[in-house]
Amino acid sequence: MTSVFHACHSPLPYFPRKCQRSHPPRPSVSFPSSSFSRRCQSDARFMATSVKTAAWTTPDGSALQDGISEYFDKSSGFWEDIWGDHMHHGFYDPDSNVSGTDHIAAQIRMIEESLRFAGISEDPAKQPKRIVDVGCGLGASSRYLARKYGAECQGFTLGAVQAGRANVLAKAEGLADKVSFQVADALNQPFPDGQFDLVWSMESGEHMPDKAKFVNELARVAAPGGTIIIVTECRRDLGPSEKSLQPWEKKLLNRICNAFYLPEWCSTSDYVKLLQSLSLQLQCRI
Ligand SMILES: C[S@@+](CC[C@H](N)C(=O)[O-])C[C@H]1O[C@@H](n2cnc3c(N)ncnc32)[C@H](O)[C@@H]1O
Repeated sequence: MTSVFHACHSPLPYFPRKCQRSHPPRPSVSFPSSSFSRRCQSDARFMATSVKTAAWTTPDGSALQDGISEYFDKSSGFWEDIWGDHMHHGFYDPDSNVSGTDHIAAQIRMIEESLRFAGISEDPAKQPKRIVDVGCGLGASSRYLARKYGAECQGFTLGAVQAGRANVLAKAEGLADKVSFQVADALNQPFPDGQFDLVWSMESGEHMPDKAKFVNELARVAAPGGTIIIVTECRRDLGPSEKSLQPWEKKLLNRICNAFYLPEWCSTSDYVKLLQSLSLQLQCRI
């Protein structure tokens, strides 16, 4: 299995990093990255004014989950009107020909960059055929991947309204036989082991209160030799002499957490350690 990890630092600085290990077939994890800090900051400000502040402190995280599903169910229509059905950031690269104002092209570029970084083959015989979309939002990634690869996609989200809308869009796009969506928890996925040759998590990892459980579940449902792609926001790694983030950084992150129903941020190194502990072949791009 291979896993590929794209980490998006938002809105703090980010650093290039790549690590790779060889193994017999295990799922692989890819972490690609993006440069979107300006957009993210403005989104955070906007949402902070329009969404109530979360208070999710129960030990089992249930209040957090309720907050996430309520937040996404209430705001998805709004996001769909403004951004379309992809609920993730775009990939902006100085060398890219994507215009800074064409956010949908940039969102598609984020998907394509993630697949490219993870080394997903262009050979039809080697392309993924069974995909799970973890934290699927309105299911745009699933529909895109199903079309691109002719694959079967199962997506899930905490939001019932989101799952319903994702199924409506799949039907409207003639993909109902390939793609389906349901309500489920990424920390307790409703699938047997080893089901999927591509496990896709686009900007859902930041909502997970238990990162170890999250990556364990991703690895559990991945087929031997499959690929796990995680694109997520992370805080920066601490410097050698630092014990914690700067107070201004903590303050800023707390504001983002409160606005978007996010638990405490972890760093890319934290993810890398977790993924390495599962003996996955790992590529990381920040
Ligand atoms: C920012 S949206 C990204 C949606 C989608 N991946 C996309 O790129 O369009 C985050 C998604 O993660 C989902 N999510 C957060 N925590 C989750 C959990 N524990 N289990 C399942 N989905 C979760 C939310 O319901 C939401 O659909």
